[in-house]
Amino acid sequence: MPTKVIAVANQKGGVGKTTTAVNLSACLASLGQRVLLFDLDPQANATSGVGLEKIEGASAYRVLLGEGSLLEKIRPTAFERLEMIPSEVDLCAADLEMARMENHLQRLSQALQPVLDSQRFDLIIIDCPPSLGILTLNAFAASDGLLVPLQCEYYALEGISMMNRVLGQLRDAGVNPRLEIFGVVMTMFDGRTKLCNEVVGEVRNLLGTKVFETVIPRGTKLAEAPSFGKPIIHYDKYSSGSAAYELLAQEVLERSNAA
Ligand SMILES: Nc1ncnc2c1ncn2[C@@H]1O[C@H](COP(=O)(O)OP(=O)(O)OP(=O)(O)O)[C@@H](O)[C@H]1O
Ligand SMILES: [Mg+2]
Repeated sequence: MPTKVIAVANQKGGVGKTTTAVNLSACLASLGQRVLLFDLDPQANATSGVGLEKIEGASAYRVLLGEGSLLEKIRPTAFERLEMIPSEVDLCAADLEMARMENHLQRLSQALQPVLDSQRFDLIIIDCPPSLGILTLNAFAASDGLLVPLQCEYYALEGISMMNRVLGQLRDAGVNPRLEIFGVVMTMFDGRTKLCNEVVGEVRNLLGTKVFETVIPRGTKLAEAPSFGKPIIHYDKYSSGSAAYELLAQEVLERSNAA
């Protein structure tokens, strides 16, 4: 099976992208998948979330500008089968600098080719920054599909229509003809509130089977785990958050094998 590349994206900030990228990656690895977690956000939250330090020069930045190979940027984590390309603040400059280069939307996709060719990974999960800037568009161009976390709140759906429009543009422009939404996951669900239940119902009505069955509950353990540099299954395996991400990982695998 060729390596599948999934970008976790939503231009809205704080909706659970990084929490999903980190925990889904760790759960997929625990299910036996060889996973590369790729931190493409200068905030580097996924990097610290799996317990890696921010090291100068360790990010994909220079490779995106044409220097060196992404294979050299891959680092092991403390968790079996989970490896990572970390981020650091230098990635901030990548948006601006890439804008001036030719092929500026395909830099990441080209840089990933040797990693795909190496067949070292079953899945590559990219954590995107909260924008539709050039880094995110590069992730879109390099991906087989997008995993979109939607926070259970009133404006949850607003982001999706904008993202759909960008997807259509990238497909039409030939940047990535295979690009589609792989799945939508509802995050920070609180079953006690009427609004949360209504939002999930509305999103399911509109997006149908694109929406994963698994809903991620709001839980303090999920919010705490990053400060210990551990994905939730290694921090508190018996929490509701851990159970949810384990189920989501199974759904992602089933959907990805069915494709
Ligand atoms: N299910 C959850 N339960 C409780 N807290 C959560 C949950 N999911 C995420 N959080 C917390 O909400 C905040 C935002 O989550 P996260 O960093 O994953 O979002 P993001 O979309 O990656 O943000 P950004 O757009 O800044 O990259 C974090 O403090 C995180 O710990
Ligand atoms: Mg994030």
